Amino acid sequence: MARLEGKVAIVTGAGSGIGRAAAIIFAREGAKVAVADYDEKNGRETASSISGAIFIKADVSKNSDAKKLVADTVKKFGKLDVLFNNAGIVRWGNAVDTKEEDWNRVIDVNLKGAFLCSKYAIPEMIKAGRGSIINTASIAGLVAFGGIAAYCASKGGLIQLTRSMALDFAPKNIRVNAICPGIIKTAMTKDILNNKEMMQSMLKSTVIGRLGEPEDIAYAALYLASDESSFVTGTTLAVDGGWTIQ
Ligand SMILES: NC(=O)c1ccc[n+]([C@@H]2O[C@H](COP(=O)([O-])OP(=O)(O)OC[C@H]3O[C@@H](n4cnc5c(N)ncnc54)[C@H](O)[C@@H]3O)[C@@H](O)[C@H]2O)c1
Repeated sequence: MARLEGKVAIVTGAGSGIGRAAAIIFAREGAKVAVADYDEKNGRETASSISGAIFIKADVSKNSDAKKLVADTVKKFGKLDVLFNNAGIVRWGNAVDTKEEDWNRVIDVNLKGAFLCSKYAIPEMIKAGRGSIINTASIAGLVAFGGIAAYCASKGGLIQLTRSMALDFAPKNIRVNAICPGIIKTAMTKDILNNKEMMQSMLKSTVIGRLGEPEDIAYAALYLASDESSFVTGTTLAVDGGWTIQ
């Protein structure tokens, strides 16, 4: 049997990278998928490549969009089992040179976005009698990286939000877990990886000897979305090629 047979899943940030890979893999494993992104062109492209998927335009940092995302998914598919809070952005700067507007945007998308989508998804999961929420955090939530203060703070916060929601909703049979990707080849890391010196340095810290593919994270999300992980909640799974070993 397919691993997500009969399940309904929302994947945010599914227009690109990790989210797109997860939407495709979730659907291949039997899920009905709502592809969510604020980038309409990319989101529609993902949805059109998946049979039975729908695209919902949503900026996860906006309360009304998060509410509508969940409502439209339930209206279309009848319930909600899986929420993959994956949309995220990065802005460069340490605590001194980060502009306040950049700080706000990073926290709004990476942390508040996961809160808002969960806020509306959890009551639907309670109705369904079960649920799995997966948050894409980062190794930048586990160890510090120079020059991305807001991003590190947002991902550290997201790991604690994961634990807090896991504790609150375990009695309702809702599991909440975080994945911490290492360096994955996506649009987000394109500029860094195009810089030869930076690329070599990233590769050196990734002890497994290669950088990650979006599918490396999508398969971890598949496990956490499926009933195979029914005894796993509140955990933070590093999928980082060994970056955080040392
Ligand atoms: N690529 C990496 O090395 C890496 C490492 C650690 C964590 N992550 C995390 O993985 C997640 C996915 O990133 P990716 O690498 O696939 O990047 P990506 O840029 O390829 O994809 C991110 C997607 O999120 C969407 N998005 C951004 N803001 C949004 C918003 N407000 N509402 C809805 N959608 C929005 C974008 O349009 C895009 O489609 C992010 O949370 C990122 O922080 C990535």
